[in-house]
Amino acid sequence: MEIDFSKISSPCYLLDEGRLRANLGLIAGVAERAGVQVILALKACAMWPVFSVFREGVHGATASSLSEARLVGEELGTLSHTYAPVYTDGDFEELLNHSSHLTFNSLGQYSRFAPRALIRGVSCGLRINPECSTVATDLYNPCAAGSRLGVTAAELERLPEGLEGFHFHTLCESGPEELRMTLEAVEERFGRYLPHLKWINMGGGHLMTREGYDAGALVSLLVEFRRRYPNLEVILEPGSAFTWRTGWLVATIEDKIERGGVGTLMVDVSFACHMPDCLEMPYKPSIVGAHEPREGERRWRVGGNCCLAGDWVGDWAFDHEPKVGERLVFEDMIHYTMVKTTMFNGVVHPSIAVRRMDGSVDVVRRFGYEDYKSRMG
Ligand SMILES: Cc1ncc(COP(=O)(O)O)c(C=O)c1O
Repeated sequence: MEIDFSKISSPCYLLDEGRLRANLGLIAGVAERAGVQVILALKACAMWPVFSVFREGVHGATASSLSEARLVGEELGTLSHTYAPVYTDGDFEELLNHSSHLTFNSLGQYSRFAPRALIRGVSCGLRINPECSTVATDLYNPCAAGSRLGVTAAELERLPEGLEGFHFHTLCESGPEELRMTLEAVEERFGRYLPHLKWINMGGGHLMTREGYDAGALVSLLVEFRRRYPNLEVILEPGSAFTWRTGWLVATIEDKIERGGVGTLMVDVSFACHMPDCLEMPYKPSIVGAHEPREGERRWRVGGNCCLAGDWVGDWAFDHEPKVGERLVFEDMIHYTMVKTTMFNGVVHPSIAVRRMDGSVDVVRRFGYEDYKSRMG
C-alpha cells in the first residue's frame, strides 16, 4: 500500500507495524532454528507503545541503565539482561529488582557489586573483550586499542567466584562472517573458561534483517557453537535488526537557500538533534524520491533547523524540482533516533506515530514547550 506522506503531520517519526512484524518473524525464525535466545537491545529502540507487538515475538530484552530496565519490566513484562559500563551505589539495589542477568564490565566492578547480586539470585556475567576488531569506525569499535569495554584475556587469570556467563559485543551492522571471526578470537583467548559457564551473550550488531544477510550461515554457526559447548545457553541481543527499515522521519521543506553555488533545502528537523548518527558515523541517509546525483544533475544539500554550522548532509538529486511546503522523507529512521534525540535550540521534537496494519496512522506522542522546559528545571 502506497503511503501518502503529505497526510502525515510533520515532523514525525513514523513506524510501520507491518514491517516491524516482518522483522520480528524473521528474527524469531533464526532463534528457533539456531536454538538460541534473541532478545531486544532496548538502547536501539525504546518505543514502548509498540511493545505489545514486540511481545508477540520477543522473549526478553537487554537494558543498559536502571531506566531501561524499569521500562522493560513495565512495558515488556520481563526482567532484563542488564549490562552497563559502570554501576553505581545509587542505582544498583533497584537494578537488582529488574534484572535476571547482570553483566559487569571490569573485575573491579564485579568484586564491588556481584556479591549483592549473587545473594539475590541474579545470574552474574563478565563482559569480555576478544580484541578482534571487525568494525572500521573506531566510534563503534569496542575492540579498538585501549578500549574501556570488556575484560581482556590477559586480565583474567581465573573465573571470579559465582560467575555464570560471558558477554561480548564487538559487531556493528555486521554479517555472520564477522561473528565467525569474533567467535574464533573468543575461543582462542577465553575457550578454556567456556565449559565452566552457563551462558554466553554474543551482544548486538547481527543485522539479520538486512537484505542479503545470510541467516542460514548465522544459524549454522550458532548450531555448531552450541554443539561444541552444550553447557552454554546462547543469547544474542541485537538492536538495529529489530527495527531495521521499519519507518521514516517525515519532514517538510521550509526554505531553499542558494549560496556560493550550493543549494540547500532547509527542513523542519535537524541531523544533530533528530538523526545524530548521520553526523556521528557519519552516513548519508536515503530520502524517498531522491538519489545519488549523477554527472550534471542538480544537487541539493539538506540543511537542519538547529544553529550548528555542520547540521547538514548532502548531496542528493531529486526526481522532481523540490518545492517549499513539500514533504521530505528520510528512510530508516526508527533505530538509534528517538532514543538519542536532543532538544538543543528548543527545536520542535518530531512526534511519534505508528502506521497500523490497516494503513491507519496513530500518533502516540506529541512534544511541546513543557517537554523542553521540564528538562531544565
Ligand atoms: C552491549 C550492546 N549490546 C547490544 C547492542 C545493540 O547493537 P545493534 O543495535 O548494533 O544490534 C549494543 C549497541 O551499541 C551494545 O553496546
